[in-house]
Amino acid sequence: MSDTPVVPPSTVVLVSGGSRGLGLAIVTDLLAAGTKVAAFARTVTPELAQLAAEHPDRVHVGAVDVTDLPAVQAFVREVEQRLGPVDGLVNNAAVGQDSMHTHTSTADLARIVETNLTAPLQLTRLVVRRMLGQGRRGRIVNVTSICAQRGFPGLVAYSATKGGMDAATRSLARELGGRLLVNAVAPGFFASEMSAVLGSTQLDQIVRRTPTGHLTEPAEVVPVVRMLLREQTNINGQVIVVDGAASV
Ligand SMILES: NC(=O)c1ccc[n+]([C@@H]2O[C@H](COP(=O)([O-])OP(=O)(O)OC[C@H]3O[C@@H](n4cnc5c(N)ncnc54)[C@H](OP(=O)(O)O)[C@@H]3O)[C@@H](O)[C@H]2O)c1
Repeated sequence: MSDTPVVPPSTVVLVSGGSRGLGLAIVTDLLAAGTKVAAFARTVTPELAQLAAEHPDRVHVGAVDVTDLPAVQAFVREVEQRLGPVDGLVNNAAVGQDSMHTHTSTADLARIVETNLTAPLQLTRLVVRRMLGQGRRGRIVNVTSICAQRGFPGLVAYSATKGGMDAATRSLARELGGRLLVNAVAPGFFASEMSAVLGSTQLDQIVRRTPTGHLTEPAEVVPVVRMLLREQTNINGQVIVVDGAASV
């Protein structure tokens, strides 16, 4: 190895939307890997509350809306006091969509863009400012979606936000000049509250065109997130697709 400074593994990771689905799986996995984890969602589920009760020194949770910037700022300050400076961020919180573009209301468009694009950009700015201000390095992982790269009916605004985060991933990686590693993970469809709107015909179609023959599982995504936060790699500004080659 050369003397070039490297970005150390994250030790305190903030996960947005860590209350259920993929976010909860990421929180659980990072805890098992020895990381301190802070997680928020609008509602703290019993599963997330239980993790916090089991690991009071390593988990901090809160009921926070990612679109409420002052509440997010207050939560980040709490996390720093309880667990230490945040050196890893997973932008996972998002809302889905189940409406043709022509039938999507202006209010719904605004809610999807605010939750899935504006809010993670603001949270990222907040965390990056604090990391750089304290002279620290860190890692950011944006959970995006295969929908940013392939078309799916009923997901126009959602896909636009995920494509926006993929683009932001690349530009932020360049802007930060290696002080932070910034990457995205783009899963294929997996079973969760968000994807429950898909009918069995759509799910069967996705499985049929997936060479590995099954829907992606959260358990198949979390090792990639962990690797980007914890392993020593030179991966930066990338979008890593985890979908069994369904989109290839
Ligand atoms: N499911 C799929 O097929 C699929 C495929 C590709 C990518 N993804 C991406 O994977 C990530 C996780 O999705 P998932 O399927 O696990 O979804 P999910 O089960 O619906 O979980 C979404 C999480 O985000 C939180 N959240 C939503 N709006 C929020 C807000 N305004 N403020 C704070 N937290 C908020 C939810 O909690 P509250 O509702 O309590 O706030 C929940 O914790 C998302 O970024 C999604 O776009 C999903």
